[in-house]
Amino acid sequence: MKNIVILISGSGSNMAAIVQQARQAQWAEHLQARVCAVISNRPEAQGLDFARAQGIPTAVIDHKAFDSREAFDAALVAEIDRFAPALVVLAGFMRILTPVFVARYSGRLINIHPSLLPAFTGLHTHQRAIDAGCRFAGATVHQVTSELDHGAILAQAVVPILAEDTAETLAARVLSQEHLIYPRAVADFLRGLG
Ligand code: GRF
Repeated sequence: MKNIVILISGSGSNMAAIVQQARQAQWAEHLQARVCAVISNRPEAQGLDFARAQGIPTAVIDHKAFDSREAFDAALVAEIDRFAPALVVLAGFMRILTPVFVARYSGRLINIHPSLLPAFTGLHTHQRAIDAGCRFAGATVHQVTSELDHGAILAQAVVPILAEDTAETLAARVLSQEHLIYPRAVADFLRGLG
């Protein structure tokens, strides 16, 4: 069985989409994979409630309890490694990771970013796409490297930007696509592991 560990910071809707997909018989049978833990850096992350209700082990490693990024990442690694994951999935995990962390999970660490990378790395992607006059926006699943929001692209979804869009309406349209492409990209990744 291949273990998937998902890291979240907030609502966890991408995590929920992956968990729901992983419940499908096809996943368990053909991919031999399961979501074995959900870890948050924020104790109040709503996604933790969903994971608990699904009977998935959860953990909180509160970044505020650590003096440095290195110390936080070391504690995070210790928690993640308890599950010997084949894949570590960042799903709205709002921490910049140290190169040591990224190197440890190299090739088995993926993220979803709410823009059509390589455009609009970083924050406020939807407002920036609107301000730039883009006609299309989207989301990207990518391998994580030590450079923020870079790394090989695994999947993308495109949505139109409408004249009346605000950052909020655009974010909702993009998020609905994230929920489709992220579970699929996770499955494709696991299939590639054989
Ligand atoms: C998503 O838009 C994701 O692309 C970004 O943060 C948001 C997280 O949403 N990195 P959720 O926590 O999965 O609901």
